[in-house]
Amino acid sequence: MREQEIEIGTIDAFGELPAEITLEHTPYWLVRTSAGEYRLLLAVCPHAGGDIRPLNGMLICPLHFWTFDSETGKCLNDPDERLMQRTVLVRDGRLFAIGDLV
Ligand code: FES
Repeated sequence: MREQEIEIGTIDAFGELPAEITLEHTPYWLVRTSAGEYRLLLAVCPHAGGDIRPLNGMLICPLHFWTFDSETGKCLNDPDERLMQRTVLVRDGRLFAIGDLV
């Protein structure tokens, strides 16, 4: 069975990353790794649900200032924590979210 794909948009539509997007009523930051891969990082803090936002090349939560790597979503305050994420596939210049939020 083929995994469900949800179209995010064309690559050209996102000039500057991270870009805030909403998919299926859920907020994400679309990021691109230094290896050129795209991914969606959940814009909800795993600590207590704060709104994640970019600051100085990182992603931070303004509630208690946890900081996250803006490529991997790993928490820099607690190595056991990270932002949940979805895989992004690139096909014909378009971005698709695939699989579940993990
Ligand atoms: S809710 Fe994000 S750091 Fe506490």
